[in-house]
Amino acid sequence: MPLEAKIGPSILNADLCQLEVESQKLISNGADYLHLDVMDGHFVPNLTFGHPVVKCLRNKIKDVFFETHMMVSNPNQWIEPMADAGVDQYTFHYEALNEKESIPDVCRKIRENGMKVGIGLKPKTPVNVIEEFIPLVDLVLIMTVEPGFGGQAFMEGMMQKVKWLRDNYPELNIEVDGGVGPKTISSCAEAGANWIVSGTGIIQAPNQKQVIRELKTAVESSFKKLYR
Ligand code: DX5
Ligand code: ZN
Repeated sequence: MPLEAKIGPSILNADLCQLEVESQKLISNGADYLHLDVMDGHFVPNLTFGHPVVKCLRNKIKDVFFETHMMVSNPNQWIEPMADAGVDQYTFHYEALNEKESIPDVCRKIRENGMKVGIGLKPKTPVNVIEEFIPLVDLVLIMTVEPGFGGQAFMEGMMQKVKWLRDNYPELNIEVDGGVGPKTISSCAEAGANWIVSGTGIIQAPNQKQVIRELKTAVESSFKKLYR
């Protein structure tokens, strides 16, 4: 199946007390999926929300793909609760596991619970460490900021990792997250990313629909060059 361009707004910097309204607005403006940033105050120096909030949101929004970006130290612990909350894809961090846990076990458990598997890399982690795990995952997330906060500056240097993945794995879903918006999308698209997370770039835009369309068009036109 050819790769698809997908735009997943991060609701981290939206008005979280109106999560449903903000999410519905993003969906009606063309979001392909929702990127839900879960933080535990330990793996990253910030706290957001967990499975109870995701479950409430799922009760209101039935048919949109939910990805939870698990910025937590013990990703194993939340697999079942997130599956129960109606999450479609569980994206955890390579760096989050302790010595006793194995990545294949986490991937297997996520799948056994009916979710797709994403694995994320922080900026300082080299990309080749995940090579052996690529057959086990549906998506690799290349962080383009240090995880923890929205609204940070995009790290252009991360595009080398995206490009390396795209060159070696033409059919892999590659997601970028952090500082991505109209000004930085061309770098991401040219390097080969096809799942695009954008927080403040979309949330603060006066015309969300236009920004989402712009991001998607950039990725689709790069595909034409990559796969011509
Ligand atoms: C950062 C989060 C991102 C963030 C993106 O730790 O994982 O998803 O909210 O927000 P922007 O696009 O504003 O950097
Ligand atoms: Zn994220």
